[in-house]
Amino acid sequence: MNAAELQKHLEEHGQQHVLKFLDDLSPADQESFSKTLSAINFEQLNDLFNASFSESSWAELAAAAKVPPAKTLEDFANAESYADARAKGLETLAGGKVAMVIVAGGQGSRLGFDHPKGMFPIGPVSDRTLFQIFFENVKARGAESNTTIPLYIMTSPPTHVETVEFLTANDWFGVAESDVRVFCQGTMPAVDENGKLLLDSKGSIFQSPDGHGGTLKALEVNGCLDDMQQRGIEHLFYAQIDNPLVQVCHPALIGYHVLAASEMTTQVVRKVEPLQKVGNVVEVDGVVQIIEYSDLPEQYARQTNDDGSIKLWAGNIAVHLFTYDFLKKSVANADSLPFHRAHKKVPFIDGDGNLVTPESPNAFKFEKFIFDLLPSAQNAIVCEVDPAEGFCAVKNAPPATSETPQHVKDAIVALHRSWLESAGAKVSEGVKVEISPMFATDRESLVKKIEAGTIVDSDKFFDA
Ligand code: UD1
Repeated sequence: MNAAELQKHLEEHGQQHVLKFLDDLSPADQESFSKTLSAINFEQLNDLFNASFSESSWAELAAAAKVPPAKTLEDFANAESYADARAKGLETLAGGKVAMVIVAGGQGSRLGFDHPKGMFPIGPVSDRTLFQIFFENVKARGAESNTTIPLYIMTSPPTHVETVEFLTANDWFGVAESDVRVFCQGTMPAVDENGKLLLDSKGSIFQSPDGHGGTLKALEVNGCLDDMQQRGIEHLFYAQIDNPLVQVCHPALIGYHVLAASEMTTQVVRKVEPLQKVGNVVEVDGVVQIIEYSDLPEQYARQTNDDGSIKLWAGNIAVHLFTYDFLKKSVANADSLPFHRAHKKVPFIDGDGNLVTPESPNAFKFEKFIFDLLPSAQNAIVCEVDPAEGFCAVKNAPPATSETPQHVKDAIVALHRSWLESAGAKVSEGVKVEISPMFATDRESLVKKIEAGTIVDSDKFFDA
């Protein structure tokens, strides 16, 4: 599009204000700005701005919601069904049919950390970063089954370069570089309360990552789905970078997923309080789906069963398993993931060229959520995990009182202490322990590494 065409195109969509400072830009900056603007789908943006899922629609959905039948902790404790599932999972892993994707596009802004979140040091004794913990888990889990688990890391434009530099400088934490792909998610422009684009400089508009639902398209356009096909991958294990307790490629979870012929499996925790900030995994008219905590009206979140327990108890921890075929099918269906609208504070350049930092939300951002694939998945199953064993995410900096680095470090120590105690070791009161997956990947494998009666009386990191 030349300058005149672009001007006309923007006028047609009522967005010509973004060209106000065009003459101040160098020819190269003008060209790149024009390219960005020409690529925007204004019809879609306008529809998204106008459409909203009203509170009453969420209430209707919530009123009809119940928790889908789930594999609960009792099922996992059932030796027979667990053994069958674990054997099937180990067979699937050994066949080289499992890959892992980690979504790491978020910046550590709520954490007050000015780098990609994966670079945050979280090991309570070792100070290992979130990235190192995940990479070592993937490597160790593959080695246990004499196979390799290909690893796909999703970044976003603000985190991509630093992530690649960090992983390269750390030799990919021992995973072969040929088995890792770092790929970048797409972006979406934000608009103000009149549906207008916002300038974040005189020659660029404000855009934000398109949500972790962007994983689907980004896997496709970056060749990751083709790579999976060439490697014979049938199942993709999905997790968020912020939860170092993820039971990476857990054999029994994979087994339950395969045995149920589930196209999408979701791990959940039993909510400990009604307004806990986790998505609510529900079933409405036989369809499994997730109502995000921010969308669930409080009266429905607070519903209880006759025994006083929380009715909508299943909290999403963002650990999923997808079949490769389901992902391929979903990519082909452009409508498989809707956009959600979020009201946020977005600094912008005003008509006089001054930077304005708003004190209250002034803009709408648009994001897709990966869990919106659930309603279209066949045989979707839900599996419960004890949060002590599989969920403690790092989201907030103190003075927040939940999901802080200290909570997560304490959870890692408590979990690894309990593994050591199950293996017959004695860990003195107040001592911090941490186990690298290169030493043992789980409770079962630790038993083979620790002699009963071992005493741990000072802080210790168990490494390979
Ligand atoms: C998310 C889930 C919530 C779940 C909780 C568990 C959503 C909308 N909600 O909430 O249902 O119970 O985690 O911890 O996801 N990310 C990207 N790109 C993006 C946006 C996010 O890679 O564009 C990644 C982030 O790096 C992060 C993860 O997705 O690892 C979660 O994003 P966040 O915005 O922190 O979601 P929560 O509100 O914590």
